[in-house]
Amino acid sequence: MLRNLIFTYIAALIMSACGVSGSSDAESRINQKVDSVMKLMTLDEKIGQMVLYSSGWALTGPTIKSGYLDDIRKGQCGNIFNANTAAYTRKLQKIAVEESRLGIPLLFGYDVIHGHTTIFPISLGESASWDLKAIEKSARVSAIEAAASGINWTFAPMCDISVEPRWGRVSEGAGEDPFLGSKISAARVRGFQGNNLADTLTIMACVKHFAAYGAPLAGRDYNTVDMSERVFQDVYLPPYKAAIDAGAMSVMSSFNEYDGIPASGSKYLLTDILRKKIGFKGLVVTDYTSINEMVNHGIVANEAEAGLLSVKAGVDMDMQGEVFFKYLKKQVESGEVSQKTINDAVARIIRIKFMLGLFDDPYRYCNEAREKRLVYAPAHLEASFDVAKRSMVLLKNSNKVLPLKKGEKIAVIGELASSKQDLLGSWAAVGNINYMNSILDEIKIYNGDANVLYAEGCKKMGEDRSGFAAALSVSRRADKIVMVLGEDSEWSGEAASRTSINIPGVQTELLEKLKILNKPIILVLLNGRPLDLSKENDLVDAMLESWFPGTMGGKAVTHVLFGEYNPSGKLTMTFPRNLGQVPIFYYEKNTGRPLYLPNPKYKSRYIDCPNDPLFPFGFGLSYTTFAYSDIKLSTDKLTENGELKVSVNVVNTGGVLGEEVVQCYVRDLVGSVTRPVMELKGFQKISLKVGESKVVNFTIKPEMLAFHRADMSYGTEPGDYKLFVGGNSRDLKLAGFKLK
Ligand code: NOJ
Repeated sequence: MLRNLIFTYIAALIMSACGVSGSSDAESRINQKVDSVMKLMTLDEKIGQMVLYSSGWALTGPTIKSGYLDDIRKGQCGNIFNANTAAYTRKLQKIAVEESRLGIPLLFGYDVIHGHTTIFPISLGESASWDLKAIEKSARVSAIEAAASGINWTFAPMCDISVEPRWGRVSEGAGEDPFLGSKISAARVRGFQGNNLADTLTIMACVKHFAAYGAPLAGRDYNTVDMSERVFQDVYLPPYKAAIDAGAMSVMSSFNEYDGIPASGSKYLLTDILRKKIGFKGLVVTDYTSINEMVNHGIVANEAEAGLLSVKAGVDMDMQGEVFFKYLKKQVESGEVSQKTINDAVARIIRIKFMLGLFDDPYRYCNEAREKRLVYAPAHLEASFDVAKRSMVLLKNSNKVLPLKKGEKIAVIGELASSKQDLLGSWAAVGNINYMNSILDEIKIYNGDANVLYAEGCKKMGEDRSGFAAALSVSRRADKIVMVLGEDSEWSGEAASRTSINIPGVQTELLEKLKILNKPIILVLLNGRPLDLSKENDLVDAMLESWFPGTMGGKAVTHVLFGEYNPSGKLTMTFPRNLGQVPIFYYEKNTGRPLYLPNPKYKSRYIDCPNDPLFPFGFGLSYTTFAYSDIKLSTDKLTENGELKVSVNVVNTGGVLGEEVVQCYVRDLVGSVTRPVMELKGFQKISLKVGESKVVNFTIKPEMLAFHRADMSYGTEPGDYKLFVGGNSRDLKLAGFKLK
């Protein structure tokens, strides 16, 4: 059999150095191996490597269409996604390896977005930790668990910048800022992939959704994206690039159109920008049936044309569309698609299979003993607990109503308080509610059953007010009221856009009723997007944004509420005062008529609402306080090859140990194109004991000030800059320098 030939040949090759950034020797060895496999392949088999089909899930476990099984057997399906468990992926892999002519192993993809079995906070929540080590750890744990369950490829990280809270998928990203988004995207790639793709504790990352998917008009998922090329390149592109520079070996083309061309058919995006400008060498997979959808977009008349457009644009693999499968062979035979195009795409895919070590041992990810040992490992649960605590943002804490004291009588109100499923958030992979506690469970464990009174009060959705009376009665008997309100977890993620960003249903109405009792109210929020919290902010004493915090979320919320952990998260998306302010983000432009002008009317403002948000980017409170002083610059003139050192003294002026995210922003005052009023250029999360002070340093190099100038060239311009340092994008200390 030929497949034996492949494996004998490969066994003879040295299987060392399959690393992501291996030496040129290793590179050429891999290329040799790829060539040797390619030489044996028929056109059908090559096209088979360019398709990706979904497995499903039945009550009894994972399943797949029998047609796809036959395709695997015939060498016409080289990749599967949504299959899970070591046993099931082994079964499918066995068909590919033992029953297909060449025995080329399958790739197994899955949406491991914020955990595989042990679920971490949703990605937006994790980003609020501003803790790159914690974020990398979360991705690493996710990779370890997924890799133990047969997966070798995750469709993450999502690197889409977004300023659109209506868009449900902001929950999957890192927020609004390109600088922070880039750091986080790179950290996630490092976490998933490690240093060596062949390590069975790592999986391949997939940078998505390329490109600009985070800016759908009106926040409606899959909608048209229309922005200037300058904004695209300066704001939206950097996080994808950072993830690719960090070694990500696959990229997913997005559903949306960009400048009139759907991304999966855009040669500009997939070849000119991705391959030529960024230098990406890995594989490009489409998003789910996005080739077929180009017919609906109205860019092609039929699926055959769609396939043609997309393969020529630079797509290597068709996710679920069956378009390459149906039409590509004829198109090659007729000369419409060149052999070279096919060979390049297939070589990229085969190369990755080598890098993952699949030719060495196709079952290396299908180890049931390892799966048993690693899934829900205590260390993973501990990591999820840690990241969940770090992700929470304290939005308000009047009169130090928090932390709660052990033994206080607490009324816990809200359907979400007793929900486990919602703690997991959307895209919760195979997270299982049987392995976790709700917030209510954990408050009871911590504070003692007798000190906790619960009433649901109302559902998270709908108009039913029949539980209000019970909530009032329970709350009357308590010292403090903890309300857990927010969104259903399925109201975030894909196809979950909203036209209101208020807390749904009658939850806020219940809050208004409880306010009459005149007792301290603490609002714990579960949600996947910035919400309009103006009303709630006026009603409650404290507000804790806990996002959808994952498997250990119940305990994490409890520990933050009771002060076992001092909250340290900061918002990575601006929280507006109302939906009318959207899009609102801190790096806006000054305009010709900024708000600070004396003219009372004719300036860029609303007549019915302030311009500033309710909670700015970078904002988050602590149970302690921090004071900033002595901002110093090493020079006030930054030269072309020089660097500027910024230092600031931060002291913990409150009563408990705390962590602070120290943020550094700049403003370029005059440019050949107008520049944002502020751009994040550095941050550090530091821990300070009571009374302790630390000098925090930042380095600004000229290249950090580069942007696309009037002629679209990329670089800096000399001139005056402002520099700001502080604990959020609103309360800042000011300095200035000149770029020579
Ligand atoms: C569609 C989503 O847009 C994408 O993020 C996901 O990875 C794929 N489906 C596969 O599930």
